[in-house]
Amino acid sequence: MRVKKETIHPARLLTGGLELPGDKSISHRYAMLAALAEGTSEVRHFSAAADCHSSLACMGSLGAEVKAAGDTVRITGRGARGLKSSWRALDAGNSGTTMRLLSGILAGQEFASRLTGDASLQKRPMKRVIGPLREMGAEIRARDDNFAPLEIRGARLKAIDYKMPMASAQVKSAVLLAGLFADGVTSVTEPAGTRDHTELALEEFGAAIEKHGRTIRIHGLSESNESGKLMAKSLDVPGDLSSAVFFIAAASLFPDSNILIHNVGLNPTRTAILDLFASMGAAVQILGLRSSYGELVGDLAVKGAPLKGGVLAGEQIPLMIDELPMLAALGPYTEEGIEIRDAAELRVKESDRIAALAENLRSMGAKVEERPDGLRVEGKRAGKLRGAQIDPRGDHRIAMAFAVAGLAADGPTVIRDADCAGVSFPDFYNELNRMADR
Ligand code: S3P
Repeated sequence: MRVKKETIHPARLLTGGLELPGDKSISHRYAMLAALAEGTSEVRHFSAAADCHSSLACMGSLGAEVKAAGDTVRITGRGARGLKSSWRALDAGNSGTTMRLLSGILAGQEFASRLTGDASLQKRPMKRVIGPLREMGAEIRARDDNFAPLEIRGARLKAIDYKMPMASAQVKSAVLLAGLFADGVTSVTEPAGTRDHTELALEEFGAAIEKHGRTIRIHGLSESNESGKLMAKSLDVPGDLSSAVFFIAAASLFPDSNILIHNVGLNPTRTAILDLFASMGAAVQILGLRSSYGELVGDLAVKGAPLKGGVLAGEQIPLMIDELPMLAALGPYTEEGIEIRDAAELRVKESDRIAALAENLRSMGAKVEERPDGLRVEGKRAGKLRGAQIDPRGDHRIAMAFAVAGLAADGPTVIRDADCAGVSFPDFYNELNRMADR
């Protein structure tokens, strides 16, 4: 049971250096592909997030050997055709990525699996992966044909050309992973760009994958390479940019802040948030840009700077979907406020993030208009925020966003059920408190 409260006291500035946990999206993918590979992969700086440990545990239940020492994980794979059925339900915990990506893999196995998750995950839509995986030949049963627990009876899959109705990296990834087990070439076309970690990781592990504009094509393993195998790899996971964003936001709030965030993943499908911060006037500098296993990595130097605010809509939304809670919670500290449109997807994340943001921002005194597909948060002129009791609704990104907002509010802010931050960043409050000067 989550019971811990965290009290955030106002700060004067942020200072010092920071190492982030390994990228959550990339860690999930390495865990799954290493389990399907031949041999032992070593994944260094694997994410500390509870979500990624759900993926590791699921791959362990499917027969991979998983050994973790600190943040290094050694995974001995079973080969693409070697997973074994799990006698108990696979538990994805709070992790939508685990459930949706693993569904793609399970669709191609010669056995049946049951896949479940916590109360929040059982409310999140799964039809978006069930549809294409059924088209490929898997038999899938779900509560109300949409919600976990999922019963997946795998099959010899057939390749499809899938035009995604929504921009979702998880749906794209589920179909691409299923494509590994299909006869022929599977293609996925996205309506707008989303993170491409699955494509990069598949390439690293030896799959044959190509990109033409918004279409990605993957060859089934039987024909992709001579041996029809994925091969074990030794890899480093970069720090998680989506976690860095809380510290970029926090540092920006105070003119005298000066922080350095080391070793951050800067994949161009994730950095729209940095462009947005730059356009709002934030002082973020990228240092030492380098490449690591197909991913870009660099250090981020951040100083305090007044933020202008702005409107976010359209194709920007899927490129910074996880950063929207922090941006909305920064709204009252910006000149013009923040407006988010075309983001109804936020209502089916770990919580209804639009409702959670509106409620908690209002309890801190912000002026907010809630809309079906987003919200408008008034800027500085509407007045300073005051500390309040925050209910993050069990959602890690809501808890962290309001911890940051609390740093510049009048009086203490109390985050209820604060431990939910561990879903992506178990050491978040310690790191925030260490860097906040009071
Ligand atoms: C993720 C994709 C996004 C994001 C999630 C992680 C991924 O979800 O919100 O936190 O790792 O593929 P959608 O694909 O559902 O937008």
